[in-house]
Amino acid sequence: MRKVAVIGMGNVGAAVAHQLVVGGHADDLYLYDANEAKVNADALDFEDSMDNVPFNVNITVNDYEALKDVEVIVSALGHIKLLDVPHPDRFAELKYNRKEVAEVGAKIKASGFHGVLIDITNPCDAICQLYKEATGLPYEKIIGTGTLLDSARLHRAVGKFFGVHPKAVKGYSLGEHGDSQFVAWSTVKVFEQPITELIKEKNMDLEAIDEETREGGFTVFYGKKYTNYGIAAAAVRLVDAVLSDSKEQMPVSNYREEYHSYLSYPAIVGREGIVKQCQLDLTEEELQKLQHSADTILSKAQVK
Ligand SMILES: NC(=O)c1ccc[n+]([C@@H]2O[C@H](COP(=O)([O-])OP(=O)(O)OC[C@H]3O[C@@H](n4cnc5c(N)ncnc54)[C@H](O)[C@@H]3O)[C@@H](O)[C@H]2O)c1
Repeated sequence: MRKVAVIGMGNVGAAVAHQLVVGGHADDLYLYDANEAKVNADALDFEDSMDNVPFNVNITVNDYEALKDVEVIVSALGHIKLLDVPHPDRFAELKYNRKEVAEVGAKIKASGFHGVLIDITNPCDAICQLYKEATGLPYEKIIGTGTLLDSARLHRAVGKFFGVHPKAVKGYSLGEHGDSQFVAWSTVKVFEQPITELIKEKNMDLEAIDEETREGGFTVFYGKKYTNYGIAAAAVRLVDAVLSDSKEQMPVSNYREEYHSYLSYPAIVGREGIVKQCQLDLTEEELQKLQHSADTILSKAQVK
């Protein structure tokens, strides 16, 4: 039986749970929210879909002891309205989420949970570290969705420029899931051709693509005051990678010893979480940007 938990049933958690239910990604689904009315309503709503979807899913609500046997927890708790300010920064939620993560992390630890925790809650990289401290889980069992979403946005933006599907584009956004993230253009290829060659051939400017990649998330956010489907797809891909031990390479937030921080860098994800850390051949400028991003995460995480 594939046992998956989602903690936090707001815009994001509900989208994750919905994809898990209608896509048949879990057999037992455990849903949690501080707002009992909301989580019970969502649970019943999912049960009402059971007759019309091709998979059965058993749903349990707010049972923290049950986490003992759960294989993957997805953290989607938060307070998105804190970002509804003129110039939002993903660190705006840190003060609130720090306290919630400490409480929830203690309950996860008390349950005896020994699976993999996938964090969506922002600021993603700093929250991974807080979950590590609260749960006592090994570093490799806590993974942040990090720039898996930003890399998907990059693939979408580049794909649109060249008229190809996002899957035809490879390459990574790295570092913080936040303002200091950057596209490592030396890693980006379209149908196996380096983008740095392609833009010379076509006399194009990387800056415009870069801008579109960076702004994509905020365009969604300003349209509806939250983002949820893109991140849900990224989180469910990670859930599948763990449950099926797929050992896929993905840019996710993982603890990198040399930067003393969680940050996004490609890693191999499988049953035990991060099973291998990859090594890219970055340019000097990209390495400096990565160091800057790590420094940004560490300094912003100090905010109490
Ligand atoms: N990493 C990413 O790429 C990414 C993308 C989108 C959103 N996010 C983050 O995901 C989080 C959720 O976003 P949202 O739009 O769903 O927010 P939201 O405010 O709609 O929902 C958050 C939910 O968490 C619940 N919650 C808060 N504290 C809790 C606790 N201690 N225990 C259980 N439930 C608790 C709230 O009751 C609420 O239902 C935010 O931190 C947001 O910034 C991350």
